[in-house]
Amino acid sequence: MAIPREIVEQILQAAHIEEVVGEFVTLKKRGSNLWGNCPFHNEKTPSFSVNPARNIFKCFGCGKAGDSAKFLMEHEHYTYPEALRYLAKKYNIKIEEKQQTAEEIMQQSIREKMFNINEFADKYFVDTLWNTEEGKTIGLEYFRERGYFDPIIQKFHLGYNPAKWDAFTEHAKKNGYSEELLEQIGLSIKGNNGLYDRYHGRVMFPIHSLTGRVIGFGGRILTNDKKSPKYQNSPESEIYDKKQTLYGIYFAKNAIARQDECILVEGYFDVLRMHQIGIENVVASSGTSLTMEQIRLVKRYTKNITMLYDGDAAGIHAALRGTDMILSEGMNVRVVVLPPEHDPDTFGKEFSTEYVSNYLKENAKDFIRFKTELLLKDAENDPIKRGQVIRDIVETISVIPDSIFRITYVKECSRLLDMPEQTLTNELNKILRSKLKKTLGIEDNVVPETDTTTVTPKQEELLKTSCLRVIIRSVNW
Ligand code: CTP
Ligand code: MN
Repeated sequence: MAIPREIVEQILQAAHIEEVVGEFVTLKKRGSNLWGNCPFHNEKTPSFSVNPARNIFKCFGCGKAGDSAKFLMEHEHYTYPEALRYLAKKYNIKIEEKQQTAEEIMQQSIREKMFNINEFADKYFVDTLWNTEEGKTIGLEYFRERGYFDPIIQKFHLGYNPAKWDAFTEHAKKNGYSEELLEQIGLSIKGNNGLYDRYHGRVMFPIHSLTGRVIGFGGRILTNDKKSPKYQNSPESEIYDKKQTLYGIYFAKNAIARQDECILVEGYFDVLRMHQIGIENVVASSGTSLTMEQIRLVKRYTKNITMLYDGDAAGIHAALRGTDMILSEGMNVRVVVLPPEHDPDTFGKEFSTEYVSNYLKENAKDFIRFKTELLLKDAENDPIKRGQVIRDIVETISVIPDSIFRITYVKECSRLLDMPEQTLTNELNKILRSKLKKTLGIEDNVVPETDTTTVTPKQEELLKTSCLRVIIRSVNW
């Protein structure tokens, strides 16, 4: 929804750059400007300046500059509207949304209610963990037993939902939350004997949005009861879209941008452990296969993804599944496989930060090498299987949008597979050509009547955005 232009002006005028920046950077007055260490690059002597008169910031070291909104977009990775909303809130400016229909207003208020009840629940679970007998002896003890220290338990707002069937539900109802909302957001479930807690007797992980609001929960069971699933998770709702969410992104985003790398793991505990040992650019896909939306979320901060997966067969398989999708977004993928008996949680518990960092550095394999070696091991000396491996690898290379990278990978694969480069290039071109035809809406095996100079505007548009553009000039139909 668009924010009216007058309001945008009003917000930008009201925002004092020194106050906005001052929330994130320590500033000292020198002359008419204020100075601090630049939050966008590493430095020891301040070259980051804030000019209150012109209401802008500028770093003389890295060159970043702009107004309050620009600062928030760079520092907090907000979109422009998100930055404006943040400022509007800070300066008490009411944003009258344009053309909101009655239904939109309803939706908006449902979302607000959902955020509110989640915040309420989050407080309750945290309070129960730290301040009740049951919470302390069962929940807190569980985290400590697994080797988690208090600061990390606090930082991630871990909590505990009592074992009593409807402890939370009762508490929420007493505080005026409706049964309908409790059920809608999934904190409670309707049974034969009324509403009960979805997470009773579980330790709680709140799931935060990019801006730090609680959009859902995951709860882990503490017994080995095979009848209940290990994790209970919130169902999707107006505020929780699983395919758009990565666990830990709120806590990791700055580190991801700073280090220009995102480490991807599978589970809640993997994220916690990495943070505890000081590796903070880590998010989890929460056990489901990675989605395009999640990859685009990461792409807001970095183009480099390192997948850190369990050393068992399932982990390796999961790693393979994600790579093609990440590559097709033009990102760089590396894969680290842990020793078979470990997941990132146990690995980080057993070894020091230094050992883990080194392991990551030394074992990060470029995806193409990873996949090729893995598939080749399977195929051994079976020529038919080898043929399949080659096609499979070339198929993967074909999703990479950048033609120069494609060529580099063909070279590398030719070496790994012991295959002439030309053979791979031919195979690659075949795949690209058939994809191009699909993009253009031409059926495979049908020779088009027109040549490439007569593509329609629609086709031209597709070509502009397509990684296959390069070929259209060089392929002879
Ligand atoms: N998961 C889930 N539901 C399950 C099992 C797993 O939602 N029944 C998700 C959780 O997000 C979990 C992730 O998949 O964190 C990875 O699963 P797993 O490796 O089994 O769990 P861990 O996080 O490693 O938990 P633990 O170490 O306690 O076994
Ligand atoms: Mn685990």
